[in-house]
Amino acid sequence: MSNEYLLVKKSPPLSGTVELVGAKNAVLVICTSLILTNGISILENVPNSADVLLMIKLLEDLGAGVTFEPEKKLLTVDTRTICKFEVKQEIMNKMRASILVAGPLLARFGKAKVAFPGGCLIGARPIDYHLSGFKKMGAFIETHDCFIDLTLKPYQELPKLTRLVLEYPSVGATENLMMLAALNKGETEIVNAAIEPEVLDLIDILTRMGAKIDCSQGQIIKIKGVDKLNPVRHYIIPDRIEAGALLLAAAITGGSVTIPDARADHMDLFLEKLRAMGHKVITGTHATHDNPHRGITLTATTTPQAVSFKTGQYPCFPTDIQAPMMSILSVANGTSLIEETVYENRLIHIKELQKMGAQITRDGNTKATIRGVDALYGTEVIATDIRASCALVLAGLVAQGQTKITGIHHWRRGYDKLEHKLVAMGALIEVVEEL
Ligand code: UD1
Repeated sequence: MSNEYLLVKKSPPLSGTVELVGAKNAVLVICTSLILTNGISILENVPNSADVLLMIKLLEDLGAGVTFEPEKKLLTVDTRTICKFEVKQEIMNKMRASILVAGPLLARFGKAKVAFPGGCLIGARPIDYHLSGFKKMGAFIETHDCFIDLTLKPYQELPKLTRLVLEYPSVGATENLMMLAALNKGETEIVNAAIEPEVLDLIDILTRMGAKIDCSQGQIIKIKGVDKLNPVRHYIIPDRIEAGALLLAAAITGGSVTIPDARADHMDLFLEKLRAMGHKVITGTHATHDNPHRGITLTATTTPQAVSFKTGQYPCFPTDIQAPMMSILSVANGTSLIEETVYENRLIHIKELQKMGAQITRDGNTKATIRGVDALYGTEVIATDIRASCALVLAGLVAQGQTKITGIHHWRRGYDKLEHKLVAMGALIEVVEEL
């Protein structure tokens, strides 16, 4: 584990124009989708984050030839040499998204051996929707202590039509089941599917590989299996969660930021909440023929007001921006209420914000009341998950004195050197290597 920590000092109002990297949550699943093809695919706009590097390791371990050129954000994956259907436990234990190889491996080999995935400790995060979906699609599943063995029935015994009804529109389950369905016999319908922008980016690349996917009915996705999918070149959508962090950094410090490649149409409710706080948010600043909503400029108000929100599946308020948003509400005028409905344990950052002087009370594991204070105070805090790390950096930007943030392997997992972008906007952030 790294000995690095972040030292964040009270910073002047941040300002600047910043470009985004590709969405972590899109690139991870899109990497696994390449297992469905036989050939060389090229992904553009790939972030250089620890989770992406781990996913590369996973693909290489399966036999793929991978070249990553971080400075060009270019990832080349040759899947012709993939020869294994078993994923190493030590890789799976580190990242929840590693479960997303199960569907593609099943489709490619008719079998897969995977471990229960790890990742951030923000809730129980079971994979029952994935497994029950695979079962309905014709997989035998044997679970052992650490491993899961999945085997598809012989081709002639596979169902012609499978209707999968998700109890909750799980992003990962939708993606995993869709990838198996894309290269499988028969038709599959996923009811109550997730429609996050990252899921739609996966549908986009699968379609260009040759998959037959109809998502015109919103949360009902229909997939007609095909015999073969082809390698492609694909540009990963910009990261809406990184965009959120940059907008919040400008907002909390009273600054301004322009993000030319941000997709405002991926962040509607979040942007509405920023406006309700009093910040001036203009969208479509860098519109293109394809997308009139491209580009966002935020100019912060000096008197930010409290707002309340509930997280939920897209297009509701994203759970991945809940913790960073809590930081800026900690110094807003008035009282805000937050309800986390996606994960049952995603308020762990409250304890750390409290150490900095935030007035936050918890009501159980999912509700918080934030009473805005005049000032936060720098101290030593621990990042407990990816998005909590961002919340603490934001709080550090306005806290009196300096804030030492440890546990920054979480920050590295989710963000591609975001501290450099913040520093370019005027943030006083140092990465310190502890001896
Ligand atoms: C993805 C994102 C994550 C984001 C989340 C919700 C990736 C790599 N990660 O995670 O950043 O916070 O979507 O937008 O894309 N659940 C079950 N059983 C299942 C599957 C999920 O109970 O089989 C529950 C989970 O425990 C959680 C909720 O459903 O409480 C949502 O999870 P899900 O949408 O699957 O999130 P991930 O795909 O893991």
